[in-house]
Amino acid sequence: MRVLMFIGKGGVGKTSVAAATGLRTARLGYKTIIMSLDIAHNLSDIFDLDKGLMDLNKGKPVKIAENLWIQELDIHQELQRNWKEVHSYLSLLLSTSGFDNVLAEELAILPGMEEVSALLYINSYVKANYYDVIVLDCAPTGEAIRFISIPTALEWYIKKIFNLERNIAKFVRPIVKRVTDIPIPEDSYFENINQLFIKLQGSDEILSNPEITSVRLVTNPEKIVLKETLRAFMYLNLYKINVDLVILNRILPLEIQDRFFDAWKEIHALYTSKAREYFDPIPIFSVDLFTKEILGLEAIERLGEAIYKDQDPTHLFYKGKAYEFSKEDGCLMIKIELPFAQKEEVEVYRVGDELVLKLGAFRRNIPLPRSALASCERMKARMQEGYLQIYVGGKEDGE
Ligand SMILES: Nc1ncnc2c1ncn2[C@@H]1O[C@H](COP(=O)(O)OP(=O)(O)OP(=O)(O)O)[C@@H](O)[C@H]1O
Ligand SMILES: [Mg+2]
Repeated sequence: MRVLMFIGKGGVGKTSVAAATGLRTARLGYKTIIMSLDIAHNLSDIFDLDKGLMDLNKGKPVKIAENLWIQELDIHQELQRNWKEVHSYLSLLLSTSGFDNVLAEELAILPGMEEVSALLYINSYVKANYYDVIVLDCAPTGEAIRFISIPTALEWYIKKIFNLERNIAKFVRPIVKRVTDIPIPEDSYFENINQLFIKLQGSDEILSNPEITSVRLVTNPEKIVLKETLRAFMYLNLYKINVDLVILNRILPLEIQDRFFDAWKEIHALYTSKAREYFDPIPIFSVDLFTKEILGLEAIERLGEAIYKDQDPTHLFYKGKAYEFSKEDGCLMIKIELPFAQKEEVEVYRVGDELVLKLGAFRRNIPLPRSALASCERMKARMQEGYLQIYVGGKEDGE
C-alpha cells in the first residue's frame, strides 16, 4: 500500500502530475485511486470526463479505466455523512448571531472539514487495503500543510481540551439557556466530534510512515515558486513526513530558439541548479513544458513517461530527512547530516527568515519556523558524530 501526495504552489502542475502518476500505476497493474483534496476540483477535467458523471456520483469513487478510480470529495455530501451535528450547531449559532440562514449554513463549513473528511477516506481505504495506491492531488501549499497538520492538532485538542469543553457545556447549558439565546452545543455535537476522532485514529501513523506515505513536491524553476516549495518542505520536515521526490515541471525545452525566450531559459537554468542546492539530498525529476496543456488519457500518459521514464512510481525514491527539528532546553535545534565536515569549515548565517548553511561549494537554505524567528539572533552550532547541530534561541549567556 502506498499513499503518494502531490504538494506545491497553485498552478505548478500538481493535478496533471498526480493524474499521470495514477494512470501509470494503474497501467502497471496496481489498483489505484486518485483523490482530489482541492475544493476547486479539476481532476475530472484533466481526464476530460463528463462532469455530469462526477456529480451523479456524489463525491464517491468513479472507475474511469482498468484499475483506476478517481474521487472528488463533495463537501455537502460529507456534511451529511460526517458532520451533521457539528454543522447544524454551527449554523444555529451563526443564525442566532444575526446571519441569515443560507449564509449561516455556508459559513458553518469550517476550514479543515474537507481535509478531515479526506483523511477519513484515506484511513478507511488503508485499513480495508482495497487499493494498492492512493494518489492525493492536494490543494495549493497552505491548505495542504493544514491537511498534514490535522492529525497532530486533533490529537492535542481531543486529549487536552475536548473533555473539558464537553464537561463545561454540560454544566453551563441549563444556566445559559435561562439568560441568553446563544446556544451551547448539545452532547450530540460532542459525540459527533468524538466519533470523527475515533474514525481518524491511525491516520497520523499512515502519514508519518515513510514506507506508506511519500510526499512529492511539484514545482517550477522560478524564484517565487521555489521559495514557496522550500517552505512546504520545511513544514513537512517539521511534521516528520517523508518527501521522496521533487518534480521540477514545465522547464522550457532547450531546442526553443526564439530570442523572446532567452531570458526565460536563463532563469530556468539558474533555478534548476538552485533547486538542486535547496532540496539536496532529495532526487529531482525534471519535466519539460509540453507543446500544449495536458488533457485526456494520451497526454496524461505521455506526462507519466516524461516524469518517471522507465521507473515504477510506487518506488520509494528517498527515505530519510534532509534535516530535523527538535526542542532542547528551550532552543530550537536543527540537525543536519554532514558526515565528513569539520565545524571550522561550516558557515551558518541567517538571511531574512532562512538559515543559510555553507560548506565549500555546498549550500543549503533552511526556512525557519515562525515560532523561531523572534529569537534567532542567538545562534550556536556544533558538530557531533557526523551531524551539524544548530541551536536557535534559548537563554543568552548570563541570562
Ligand atoms: N509539463 C507541462 N507542459 C505543459 N502544460 C502543463 C505541464 N504541466 C502542467 N501543465 C498545464 O498547466 C496548467 C496547470 O496544471 P494543473 O492544473 O495540473 O496545476 P495545479 O498545480 O493542479 O493547479 P491548481 O493549483 O490550480 O490546482 C494546466 O493547464 C496543465 O495542462
Ligand atoms: Mg490542481
